[in-house]
Amino acid sequence: MANMMKIDAFTIGNLPRIVFGDGRLSELPGLISSYGDSVLLVMGGKSFRAGPHWEVLKRGLVEQGVRFECVSVEDEPSPRQIDDIVSGVGREINVVAGIGGGSVLDAAKAIAALLPRGNSVFDHLEDVGRGLPYEGTPLPLVAVPTTAGTGSEATKNAVLSQRGTDGFKKSFRDDSMVARVALIDPMLLAGCPRELMAAQGMDAFTQLIESYVSRRANPVTDALAWSGLEAVAGGFFDALQGGEGEAARSGRAAMAYGALISGITLAQVGLGSVHGLAQPFGSLFPIPHGVACGTVLAAATEVNVHALEVRDPEHRSLQKYAAVGRLLSGGEAGEVRSACRVLVKSLEEWTRRLDLPRLSEFGVGEADIPRIVAGSRNNSMKSNPVDLSDEEIAAIVRKRL
Ligand SMILES: [Fe+2]
Repeated sequence: MANMMKIDAFTIGNLPRIVFGDGRLSELPGLISSYGDSVLLVMGGKSFRAGPHWEVLKRGLVEQGVRFECVSVEDEPSPRQIDDIVSGVGREINVVAGIGGGSVLDAAKAIAALLPRGNSVFDHLEDVGRGLPYEGTPLPLVAVPTTAGTGSEATKNAVLSQRGTDGFKKSFRDDSMVARVALIDPMLLAGCPRELMAAQGMDAFTQLIESYVSRRANPVTDALAWSGLEAVAGGFFDALQGGEGEAARSGRAAMAYGALISGITLAQVGLGSVHGLAQPFGSLFPIPHGVACGTVLAAATEVNVHALEVRDPEHRSLQKYAAVGRLLSGGEAGEVRSACRVLVKSLEEWTRRLDLPRLSEFGVGEADIPRIVAGSRNNSMKSNPVDLSDEEIAAIVRKRL
């Protein structure tokens, strides 16, 4: 008889309605008009509006009788930028659509939540703001990712950043802020530059691994995370090749799927030490989030594996790491201990193949390690499968200086 699977108590929070597939961007005007007749389009710099889809979208909105106003968000949005947009747009807006990368979707989420009352995001921002609970009802939000990375289309939080010595990276979050619809059209990834695809793909991949081994993981997220890991393992390098060939198309769909799933699983069960570190990396230095994750993933995995082997060799997360090791190596990785070694080696190999820059290229030095370690003790670190000492966290950073 097979071993009985033990299922502990768990909760699955809100999910958006998911509309996934090549070409499904054409459904966006109809979706928007099912929620309102006056939409605020939150977009990135210029790339979407310079591409072929913008004219089609505008025409579609006009045909549906939807008025639209556009705002752009560049880089990672600051709280001030969000407040300016909220106070600057028309009061008749009754639906919001975010079309862009993770930062754009995060901004759209915060804007949709704040528009009904028009108050400042500092009222609700964790730690640096007043931290008041959000009690309103956000405007309906449709999230359309144009990159495959953060999975923001499936999460309830908006990460806002202020850079510099007093920099921070903090969330405004509420269960009600999850998008009503996540529309994922992998075709939109076709124009994504290789470097961006690499960094953002590593963010999604990290999010999948970290939620898979999270100490809060449950059977639902395990099944989802595993399917996301299979998709990314099979499609990442095909997606990076670019072009219009069948392999590249399938690769892009796999990455769009992996990113979406990573957002779902991280929202349910949290992340780990890589995302713990990504917070100080991103607020203290000009390191893009995907690069921050990708560059330390192998080192952080090695440290986690070692800590688990020493402290709790029967830990379930070690078996999970081993399973990912077998997945990345095509199955030839042996028992748990050696499969974990294979995993670390495979991740190091990916880091090289993806040309992920080292931390020192962004000005991180030995002297910065104490404040990076202090900054890494955040929510993400709490769901890491094992408690790491300051020395262990420092060792992760040091390996990638
Ligand atoms: Fe991330």
